[in-house]
Amino acid sequence: MKNLVVYSSRTGNTKKIAEAIFEVLPESKEIFMVEDAPSPDLYDFIAIGFWVDKGTADEKAQGYIKTIKEKKVGIFGTLGAYPNSIHAREVLSSVRELLDGNDLLGEFICQGKIDPYILDKMPKNGVHTMTQERKVRIDEAKKHPNETDCRYAQNAFREMLQGLVN
Ligand SMILES: Cc1cc2nc3c(=O)[nH]c(=O)nc-3n(C[C@H](O)[C@H](O)[C@H](O)COP(=O)(O)O)c2cc1C
Repeated sequence: MKNLVVYSSRTGNTKKIAEAIFEVLPESKEIFMVEDAPSPDLYDFIAIGFWVDKGTADEKAQGYIKTIKEKKVGIFGTLGAYPNSIHAREVLSSVRELLDGNDLLGEFICQGKIDPYILDKMPKNGVHTMTQERKVRIDEAKKHPNETDCRYAQNAFREMLQGLVN
């Protein structure tokens, strides 16, 4: 079986999770950033990673996802919001939709620190008003992805592939 990890990452959070997942995939396996990724047609299982931009997978990841047809796929992502939030659930559901027609084996999502430059530039009103709740969430994101996130991502992908062998 030929396994492929493809990830899109602006500031390194999703890259970190991608590399952790890659470690536990069985041979044969390859890992690429989305800009350099080969066609998914050459592989049996594709782990596709994205960072969340405006409530869904970032544009580069989306571009690649749209080229994946009739494959076994696992998705992973990082975002500023909590992984158990409605927002995270909506993100995953939108990515699942993009992968319609594939065999989706599982998914993993965790928080990832938000680029401070972007935070600074965000409007200071509306949904981005700096409430105490929002500050706590952003401060929590600063600690992710951590080693536990990496281990959970590894477990999720191990389980997906075990399902295939048995
Ligand atoms: C331009 C921009 C838009 C973002 N939009 C969202 C969003 O809609 N929802 C969210 O939860 N996080 C959002 N984030 C946070 C990122 O998804 C998060 O920090 C992610 O871990 C970045 O991953 P990377 O280091 O792999 O680029 C946004 C970050 C940036 C820079």
